[in-house]
Amino acid sequence: MDIIIVGFGTVGQGVAEALSRKAPSIQSAFKEKMRVVGVFDSKSYDLSPKGLDPREVAARKAKLGKVGPDLEGRRLIEVLQDVKYDVMVEVTPTNIKDAEPGFGNMMAALSAGKDVVTANKGPLALRFRQLSKAAEKSGARLRFEASVGGATPVINMSRELLMGERILSIRGIENGTCNFILNRMRDEGLPFDQALREAQEMGYAERDPTYDIDGIDSAAKAAILANAIFRRDVTFDDVRRTGIRGVSLEAVELAAEEKKVIRLIAEVSESRLEVSPRLVPTGHPLAIGGTLNIFQLMTDLAGDITVAGRGAGKMETASAILSDLVALMKEDCASRRRNGSGNRI
Ligand code: HSE
Repeated sequence: MDIIIVGFGTVGQGVAEALSRKAPSIQSAFKEKMRVVGVFDSKSYDLSPKGLDPREVAARKAKLGKVGPDLEGRRLIEVLQDVKYDVMVEVTPTNIKDAEPGFGNMMAALSAGKDVVTANKGPLALRFRQLSKAAEKSGARLRFEASVGGATPVINMSRELLMGERILSIRGIENGTCNFILNRMRDEGLPFDQALREAQEMGYAERDPTYDIDGIDSAAKAAILANAIFRRDVTFDDVRRTGIRGVSLEAVELAAEEKKVIRLIAEVSESRLEVSPRLVPTGHPLAIGGTLNIFQLMTDLAGDITVAGRGAGKMETASAILSDLVALMKEDCASRRRNGSGNRI
């Protein structure tokens, strides 16, 4: 499997590191090479049909601020026309205004029949149907576990493990920064601004933290869940959204007196699509602490299923991307086996 990584910031570098560590064991399990044949950042690129050493590329990026020769004004999709690859890992920064450059990159790959694995919320929250249709038309696959919940496997669990279930609703905490702020306000009596500064220092907050505190990040993730799990046709703008900017220390303290916490809860179902601060009894699973994400699924046969984990971070996001890459490889391997030309999984 020949992979190109498009976007080489924190997440792209995490993917490179995860592949360096895990590719040998994946290769020996599937008897197929998993190699990185191209890396692109916003200004430069590095290509090698025989496979790059992702750690070397990351070291170059750290030293020189770029991964290789300049793109010199050429658009990535022009360069890609000459590159032979199977999967694009698209991890350019999320843009919730017009979804670019991620949307254009993904469409170029999918239209050419190349699979896409992404953590990029913008294109999925704004133009999900167009991406799905492009994939359907060319027979390419689009996987995006890393876009919601970081390392918490809510999308693939819902779509692949719970295939016999009707999922009635999902309620969850999708933003670690907000959860951290609300916790620090309650546990330490910190004012909102100070708690936000701490979250930024820890590297959890988005580059523009209004994405976190105004519920934009959570709303984008809610739209992705609605499209991917409830087969709705919504965009980010369809989400009823209230952030936590207006949550005062006084409100947090009043809630505590009633043995409750305030949490930014997303609720998604066939009829609901909402992100808002809500009161949750202490001890309830959704009263989860720290920067964790949590998702509670109500299903018709299995009842309630709850999954929690780390929703952000370099290696956590890379873990979800790697799981999607391995899923593609496993599917390819199974299809070769059915056709009598492959190895056992
Ligand atoms: N800023 C996000 C969070 C990162 O705090 O959860 C993951 O999307």
